[in-house]
Amino acid sequence: MFFGQSDTEMKSTQNRLIAQVQRVRMLSPNVNEYELALSDGGLPEPYAAGAHIDVFLPQHGARQYSLIRPWRQGAPLVIAVQRERNGRGGSGWIHEHLRTGAVVEIGQPRNLFALTPGSARRILIAGGIGLTPLLCMAQELLDRGDPFELVVCARDESRLIYAGELLNAPLANHVRFVLDNGKPEHGLDARALLAAAAPGTQVYCCGPNSLMDAVRAAGSHGANLDLHFEAFGAMSNAPVKADVNQAPFEVACRLSDITVQVQPDKSILDALVDAGVEVDHSCKEGWCGTCLTRWSEGTPIHRDTCLSEEDRGRYVAVCTARCGDGGRLVLDI
Ligand code: FES
Repeated sequence: MFFGQSDTEMKSTQNRLIAQVQRVRMLSPNVNEYELALSDGGLPEPYAAGAHIDVFLPQHGARQYSLIRPWRQGAPLVIAVQRERNGRGGSGWIHEHLRTGAVVEIGQPRNLFALTPGSARRILIAGGIGLTPLLCMAQELLDRGDPFELVVCARDESRLIYAGELLNAPLANHVRFVLDNGKPEHGLDARALLAAAAPGTQVYCCGPNSLMDAVRAAGSHGANLDLHFEAFGAMSNAPVKADVNQAPFEVACRLSDITVQVQPDKSILDALVDAGVEVDHSCKEGWCGTCLTRWSEGTPIHRDTCLSEEDRGRYVAVCTARCGDGGRLVLDI
């Protein structure tokens, strides 16, 4: 899955790894799969299904792609990249330049979309390239022997990726296809699907905003469901980046001993970058997770769409977070 794209070139080298493309495989006319092996002795940290990596591209900044295969010691990291015809060039650059043997900088795996523990039934709903994190989840659930259903939505068979895997054992018994052939009225009936789900069912959805909006709306009716979403692009309810009605506040960077004033019309991220503090970032809208930074003092006002309530106790998305009027926020950076 493609998460986002930056309008600035990344300058930070924190936590970056050097990877070499081991294999490129065409999954559909506009989707390629890439196997990335770490070089220079780097090791990916173990990750759970739902994780993604940043891929740092020359002139295009960071892009985020879900990891398709569960973590295995020594195994390559596998991502799939859909060429975005109306994008700003990052996916096109990858399709044109990432050939077997090419070297690229990546970040350590990060997870904002992990499976919640428990024995509840799970429904995974994928739209298009949004299948990638859910395919990893499906493999993890198969390994555990946990029950689940994977609903795969696509326009038609020619747009399906990993069709062979989905149509054969052991996945086939868990998969349901919804092909609308370009007619939205033949698409997923999210309300019917979720109305039939038992209370407490965990629902994981990744795909276009239209699909996620439909699942979100359907999930808000009826049974008490546990809904999880992975942004495919900016969320339709993405927060604004700054609030001109707020007073300035102070952000102190504990490790670099730099303190900045954040004006109402600026984000913390912009104030940090202006002061020369290196912070990786990408979407600048609070959904990709690239700019997540640990905080240790203060009362952040979270306005991202990527952090769980638990993670908000440790991290802020500095592209969208604020601090109470006149307050002071201390970051571990
Ligand atoms: S840059 Fe994407 S969440 Fe901050």
